Amino acid sequence: MTFLELKPLTKTQLNAAVELDRLCFGGLWTRSGYERELDSSNSKLLILEARGVVDQPSKSLQPQEFLAENSAGGDWKTVSTRQNLLVGLGCFWSILEEAHITILAVHPNYQRQGLGQLLLYALLRDAKRHQLEWATLEVKPSNQAALSLYQKFGFTEAGRRRRYYKDTGEDALILWRSGLPSQEFEETLANCYRQVVPRLAQWGWQLENEEWEIGNRKLGIG
Ligand SMILES: CC(C)(COP(=O)(O)OP(=O)(O)OC[C@H]1O[C@@H](n2cnc3c(N)ncnc32)[C@H](O)[C@@H]1OP(=O)(O)O)[C@@H](O)C(=O)NCCC(=O)NCCS
Repeated sequence: MTFLELKPLTKTQLNAAVELDRLCFGGLWTRSGYERELDSSNSKLLILEARGVVDQPSKSLQPQEFLAENSAGGDWKTVSTRQNLLVGLGCFWSILEEAHITILAVHPNYQRQGLGQLLLYALLRDAKRHQLEWATLEVKPSNQAALSLYQKFGFTEAGRRRRYYKDTGEDALILWRSGLPSQEFEETLANCYRQVVPRLAQWGWQLENEEWEIGNRKLGIG
């Protein structure tokens, strides 16, 4: 089991955040960009940090590379590390009654295990706790993984920004989720959470440090 902690980004993890950003987006925000976010009272930046042994498939190592690094041999598909590892990063800005989701990223070696769903759940739950009424974001039409994830939480397409992305010239789809204060949204969040927990457990992740479920207000990260 690997412990998974959700917490706000602090200066301690800045380098790791910039590295994760580089891996997932090719460098969307610089280090000073992240520093500005830390200083902004409107910005909510959450990270998922893995603590302890991480035994997960590594897409980045070929068998020979892994065996070279691990002379004891073993299964080349797994890589172990005993350090804390930043596996997810998410951010929203509170603007009037809206939560603008600006970043959602899961380390490429740990995607498709439920971490993105957990992180989006945590962001939206916090937006709801902050009494925000809508959530919105921009996404590439080609980003099927993200689109499918946002659909699970009830986001729908609200429009397009033409040639928004400088790297590919692609339009941006504007996604929108209304009704954050509603009971219906609370149920959507609760369902997404209930769905993801067993999936995370299958991959060896154990949630640590907080009462995750929506409706529980004991948590101090809000
Ligand atoms: C988008 C992203 C955050 C998803 O994180 P993840 O941890 O892999 O997602 P999860 O394992 O929690 O998957 C949850 C759901 O997302 C969708 N999804 C995730 N990866 C997918 C893929 N490769 N293909 C299709 N759907 C996918 C599915 O709906 C999935 O649910 P399902 O497995 O029950 O079908 C991750 O792919 C990522 O970091 N991508 C690069 C950065 C990025 O594009 N961020 C979004 C910018 S708007």
